[in-house]
Amino acid sequence: MATKDFEVQQLFKAYRSGLISEALFAQQMDELCGARNGQAPKADGAARPRGPRPLTGDDRLDAPGAMAALMGKGRTYDRTTEDLGNIVALEHVNVTVPDQTKAALFYINGLGLTRDPYMMTGPANMWVNVGRQQFHLPTSKPQVLRGHVGVVVSDLEALPRRLSRVKEALADTRFEFCERDGYIEAVCPWGNRVRCFAPQKRFGTMAVGIPYVEFDVPTGTADGITRFYTQIMGAQAATLEDAHGRFACVTAGCGQNLFFRETDRPLPPYDHHHIQVYINDFSGPHRRLVERNLIIQESDQHQYRFENIVDPESGRVLFTVEHEVRSLKHPLYLRPLVNRNPSQSIMQYAPGEDARNWATLN
Ligand SMILES: [Fe+2]
Repeated sequence: MATKDFEVQQLFKAYRSGLISEALFAQQMDELCGARNGQAPKADGAARPRGPRPLTGDDRLDAPGAMAALMGKGRTYDRTTEDLGNIVALEHVNVTVPDQTKAALFYINGLGLTRDPYMMTGPANMWVNVGRQQFHLPTSKPQVLRGHVGVVVSDLEALPRRLSRVKEALADTRFEFCERDGYIEAVCPWGNRVRCFAPQKRFGTMAVGIPYVEFDVPTGTADGITRFYTQIMGAQAATLEDAHGRFACVTAGCGQNLFFRETDRPLPPYDHHHIQVYINDFSGPHRRLVERNLIIQESDQHQYRFENIVDPESGRVLFTVEHEVRSLKHPLYLRPLVNRNPSQSIMQYAPGEDARNWATLN
């Protein structure tokens, strides 16, 4: 039988982790401690006895400050680490593909991702779920993102086997993959580079997902791109430098980033692939983009698009990639996405594994 201490601790744990509301916490604590003190639980609406009374009946828990300590009061935290800035989620990367069968071999069979079972289920388009993010793959001539997409997979060690199985069927394409230090780089049949990682601390609780998109941008543009995202988009952004050079780092959600890495290599012409983000302050960036004549589509009440990233100080176009910008009132915001265990097979089928939450670490 559970001790009262244990039950009280569990109640606090549930309350602190947000599993139960403050009202439910108070009610359950009341019932638990009232019953254990030989008191009948209060009926709804019954008046509370006046004056102080022990909350739990346990001297250690009822001592001054004990409850506050249990609830974390008095501790200090760096609250700034919780800030996201205006971009609260990077959701999808859209590249058109000329052949849905080959796209499915790469994204579904090879990478082990999951076709959206509810939306875009025909041959004209495929939405591919990657945890809480997606690839959108409409049928058309191939588009290739100028950079690469970071992807977290739950079973990195199994990935080379899956990719090897589609090698023959994709032999006449640009498909290839190689294992690097800490990740596996896979190239789609038309040249899109996907860098696959195991879940890790820098990606938060992401077990499957798109933690970042990295764009190659011309040398000398990182500072201006940082200014664009901070001053026009209201995002968190900074220009950083690592062993590979300078880059603009933009927060694009919890554990998510957009990177714009400077390169002196010539860039191919922009082919109209796009990314999609959700932002909290929807009208502010819109107003500033309109002032600079940068909006290219007023999609609907919840969405607009722009494609030129400009230096707010000079107006110079620094880089071009279409942004599909959605408000948090967009009907698709926080839409649940179905994910699967790509290792499930007929021969080694594990009942109950299909519908488990594969998107986040438990
Ligand atoms: Fe889109």
